Amino acid sequence: MDANSFISNTTNPVAYHSNWEAPSNIALIKYWGKKAPQIPNNTSLSFTLTKSVTQTEVTFKPLLSGNFDFSFYFDGALKSEFNDKIQTFFKRIEIYIPWIKQYKLIIKSQNSFPHSSGIASSASSMAALSLNLMDLERHLFPKMEESFFYQKASFLARLGSGSASRSIQGPVMLWGKNDTFSFCSDQYALPFGEDLHPVFKKFQDAILIVDKGSKVVSSTQGHYLMQSHPFAANRFLQAASNLEFLAPAMRAGDLDVFMSIVELEALSLHAMMMTSSPYFILMKPNTLAIIEKIWTFRATKKVPLCFTLDAGANLHLLYPMEFKKTVNSFIQQELAVFCQNGQYILDHVGLGAKKV
Ligand code: PMV
Repeated sequence: MDANSFISNTTNPVAYHSNWEAPSNIALIKYWGKKAPQIPNNTSLSFTLTKSVTQTEVTFKPLLSGNFDFSFYFDGALKSEFNDKIQTFFKRIEIYIPWIKQYKLIIKSQNSFPHSSGIASSASSMAALSLNLMDLERHLFPKMEESFFYQKASFLARLGSGSASRSIQGPVMLWGKNDTFSFCSDQYALPFGEDLHPVFKKFQDAILIVDKGSKVVSSTQGHYLMQSHPFAANRFLQAASNLEFLAPAMRAGDLDVFMSIVELEALSLHAMMMTSSPYFILMKPNTLAIIEKIWTFRATKKVPLCFTLDAGANLHLLYPMEFKKTVNSFIQQELAVFCQNGQYILDHVGLGAKKV
């Protein structure tokens, strides 16, 4: 479906309230580099998480006069510092949900993960907000099909934050056109499919908080720097080729191939950052210390444990559920000391957003 098929009609406003919880996600094949309007330069593939979620409720008040307006509360307090970002999002999506102009919205949001833990909440928060918008649209136009509901929610979320498109469903999501999966779209993300090997439906993700500080370079700037990056064209080809090899490994449950591609992708993402102009480094010394520990542990204990990184210093440790006990005690005994205030979050792969 192209973007125009997501333009809805308008109709008389009604008072409405909805509440959705959307998870964060972690990319295995990384999205880094985009064209306007939020079109990725390569396909990305991600695990949807379970415990790291944003819950957002929206009260839609019909306007008798005046213009579209909203107020945003985070953790119970009015937070106007997010207004510009939310306003930009509504401006971008207004053409697809023209009925929104007849409402004032009260948006109340909270995260399950600790505030300023270094975990990006833009994916889960944009996904939760988009699902609330789709909830009202489905109420206004009840003949809507379920597949359209989820695709448009992902489409709207993408226009807020690219990776948010993958936070709608699960357990593994794909976003961006490619030659390996003919059903994929640049406009929205879709699930991997029924043939995903069962081991990946229960995969564990331990998020090690190495640094809670705000990033020196935002992902918006990082994507922008890819436009003039000398290695960009090869990086996009590399991502496509990594997907081509990862897909059969995720069907077959081939953990060796899985681990080697996932770590290659994480380090390639950071290599792009280190070779941008201007260059930057988001990893910290403890990120590298943990990577070395993981490689030694994997070699000596023969446990299929690998890592990935998002745009920051924190690590995501990925492992099958049957190794949960062994890996969790390894984290506690050997890795927690490298985490800021010993902080880590034990999460796992999940099925996506839920109506509360
Ligand atoms: O969605 P954005 O614009 O915050 O970009 C996310 C980029 C990475 O997290 C580094 C990779 C990804 O695919 O999620």
